[in-house]
Amino acid sequence: MKNKIDTAQTLLEALPYIKKYANEVFVIKYGGSAQINPELKDKFAQDIILLYLVGIKPIIVHGGGNKINAMLDKLEIKSEFVDGMRVTNAQVMEVVEMVLSGSINNEITTLLNMHGGKALGITGKDANFLTAEPKAGGKYGLVGEIVNINNQVIEKLLEEKFIPVLAPIASGNEINHPGFNINADLAASKIAASLQARKVIFMTDIVGVLDKDKNLLETLTREEIEALKADGTINGGMIPKVDACLEAVDAGVEKAHIIDGRVEHSILLEVFTSEGVGTVIKS
Ligand SMILES: Nc1ncnc2c1ncn2[C@@H]1O[C@H](COP(=O)(O)OP(=O)(O)OP(=O)(O)O)[C@@H](O)[C@H]1O
Ligand SMILES: [Mg+2]
Repeated sequence: MKNKIDTAQTLLEALPYIKKYANEVFVIKYGGSAQINPELKDKFAQDIILLYLVGIKPIIVHGGGNKINAMLDKLEIKSEFVDGMRVTNAQVMEVVEMVLSGSINNEITTLLNMHGGKALGITGKDANFLTAEPKAGGKYGLVGEIVNINNQVIEKLLEEKFIPVLAPIASGNEINHPGFNINADLAASKIAASLQARKVIFMTDIVGVLDKDKNLLETLTREEIEALKADGTINGGMIPKVDACLEAVDAGVEKAHIIDGRVEHSILLEVFTSEGVGTVIKS
């Protein structure tokens, strides 16, 4: 009996959050690095369906770093990272699109549907939902900076109770343009800002942002982020992630979270408990 009361207690702890977040949009960036094994992917899908069934409107934006690397290796195509961005030529872009759209997007969408969701996978090319231009004047090749988001496309999907699953690729501005590779973190923050989401959550392969001594930083301010970037404590793939957090909260998203996608159900712990997990950046 004691156990059952504990279970009821746990459910009740979630109640205020269920009330608070009903009908709110959450943008969830599912990092390539967090898509580790079938069990974890399955738990991720369950968690998203739980959010969805209690009335939250989840939007999934996914990355695909590891899988893209593996495919590039297989095809013996070289690519390098600068400032945490994958420098993308036309050949790399073809692989990026193939893996993100053909493989990962499809896999996540299918999994969510298996668990009883109504997930619909698209890339930014669909209905021209994302348009971009070369980032930093073309410093990273076909890495793009989003210049326009057609909110209507996503709003329509949410209205019809779909779970949008978005691959971070944007359409180019001319016929035969291969499209732009958008860093998934920055795509998630821009989409969260554009739709005025309540939260943006980044699921990655680390407990959160770490300080020099590898201790978790539970909260971060803009000044702290700038200092950690300047001295190299924040580097690589964490750079676009913290930038994305700042961009989202600047634009009115209440909170941006960086959480550990390797931990089962970390997203439920973040959303439905008072302690939360990982690193939070507030407006
Ligand atoms: N200060 C820091 N604290 C925590 N992680 C950091 C820090 N600086 C750099 N990192 C690195 O950032 C990585 C997370 O970014 P990464 O781009 O690899 O993953 P992701 O964005 O979740 O996946 P993907 O890019 O495939 O979507 C961590 O695994 C870690 O190695
Ligand atoms: Mg990354």
